[in-house]
Amino acid sequence: MLRLEWVASDDARVRAARALRYEVLMAPFGVPPFHDWGDDDPAAFHLVALDGERVVGYTRLMHRGEEAQLRHVAVAFDAQRTGVGTALMAEACAKATEMGARLVWLNARLPAVAFYERLGFVVTSAEPFASGRTGQLHVRMERRIG
Ligand SMILES: CC(C)(COP(=O)(O)OP(=O)(O)OC[C@H]1O[C@@H](n2cnc3c(N)ncnc32)[C@H](O)[C@@H]1OP(=O)(O)O)[C@@H](O)C(=O)NCCC(=O)NCCS
Repeated sequence: MLRLEWVASDDARVRAARALRYEVLMAPFGVPPFHDWGDDDPAAFHLVALDGERVVGYTRLMHRGEEAQLRHVAVAFDAQRTGVGTALMAEACAKATEMGARLVWLNARLPAVAFYERLGFVVTSAEPFASGRTGQLHVRMERRIG
C-alpha cells in the first residue's frame, strides 16, 4: 500500500530518493552521476512515496512566502501510471496551503505537461526553455491554491 511521508534532509529515504531521481530524471539523458542535489537547502521539504520500505516517488517543496515551488518530481519507472505522482502532488499542494502559500509553481518537462494540467496547473511561460543538467525543454506551470 502506498504511503506518503515528509522526511528530514538527512533521512536515509532522501538518500534513496537521490538514486531514484538520478535513474528517472538524469540517467535517460546521459547526465553523469553527481553528488550535490541541494537537499540541505533549509527551504526544502522532502516528500517520499513508499511502497513498504521502498521509495517509489519523490518531490521537494521549496517554500518562499506566498509561493511554493515543487522540484524533482519523480516516480520509479515500474510504479508510473499507478497514481503515485497524483498522490505526491495532492499532498505537496496541501502542505503548501498549510504553510501559507497561495501559488504553487514548477518547471515541467514537456512530456509531463499533460500530467500537471490534469491537476489544475497552467502553463505561464511564453516559450519552452532548456533547463537544468539535462538541457531538456521545460515550461513554467502554476496552480493557485489560495
Ligand atoms: C510524470 C510523472 C511524475 C507522473 O507520475 P505518475 O505516478 O506516473 O502519474 P499518475 O499515475 O498519477 O498519472 C495520473 C494521470 O496523469 C496523466 N499522465 C501521467 N503521466 C503522464 C505522461 N507522461 N504523459 C501524459 N499524461 C500523463 C495520465 O492521464 C494519468 O492517468 P492514466 O494513467 O489513467 O492515463 C511520472 O510519470 C514520472 O516520474 N515521469 C518521469 C520523470 C518526469 O517527467 N518527471 C516530471 C519532471 S517535471
